Amino acid sequence: MELHDKIILKSKDGDEFTVRRLLKTDKEHLQKFGKSLSEVSTATFLPHSYDDDTVNAYLERSETGEDLTLGLFFDDRIIAYFFLWYFTNPIPLLGMGILDEFQGKGLGKRMMQLLIDAARDKGLDGIELTTLPDNHRAYALYESVGFQHYADVNNKVGDGRIVVERAMFLQFNPEASPSIELHKPPVEINS
Ligand SMILES: CC(C)(COP(=O)(O)OP(=O)(O)OC[C@H]1O[C@@H](n2cnc3c(N)ncnc32)[C@H](O)[C@@H]1OP(=O)(O)O)[C@@H](O)C(=O)NCCC(=O)NCCS
Repeated sequence: MELHDKIILKSKDGDEFTVRRLLKTDKEHLQKFGKSLSEVSTATFLPHSYDDDTVNAYLERSETGEDLTLGLFFDDRIIAYFFLWYFTNPIPLLGMGILDEFQGKGLGKRMMQLLIDAARDKGLDGIELTTLPDNHRAYALYESVGFQHYADVNNKVGDGRIVVERAMFLQFNPEASPSIELHKPPVEINS
């Protein structure tokens, strides 16, 4: 997906949303997204802190293409944030979060499909992700698009804690194997 491409995604109830790669100018949009996510959702999706330096570093990586970093926009508001970190590696690391009022509308599945297509189109070997053991909704979604649980791994979350999560893998290249090492964000955390 090119830097300024726009893709329309439709929810189950027919509302239209725009997907595009995030730019350095999206700093405030992304910080607002981080602030608007409920405590419950933040407990399952805190990829990084939302201070200026951290957000700038991620948006820089988005523009250079080191990560495929996407926003789902409704008007000019980011209502979902999703990405393939380490997009220049053979196996990137997937993450996604949707604002509470937009969950359960089928957007998660469409966002997954978009990330999977992007990784396949680039000829990558597969996609890894991690999810908390009690996140049954996310687990069901990931399984429904073909991911398989392969290990429990240590994962460094956005506030610096290391937690044990279920690691899942979607394999494109039959020779590839996913990592059981510590999974961590590409930017050092300010916490
Ligand atoms: C997890 C998340 C990305 C899912 O996206 P979504 O658009 O809300 O997805 P949906 O509600 O349509 O549900 C996806 C699937 O899970 C199923 N599901 C919903 N709630 C479930 C539950 N409690 N237990 C098991 N399955 C559940 C749905 O039936 C659906 O399957 P279907 O498409 O076959 O009907 C989204 O809810 C979210 O951002 N949550 C908060 C942050 C988060 O947990 N991020 C993931 C971190 S690993």
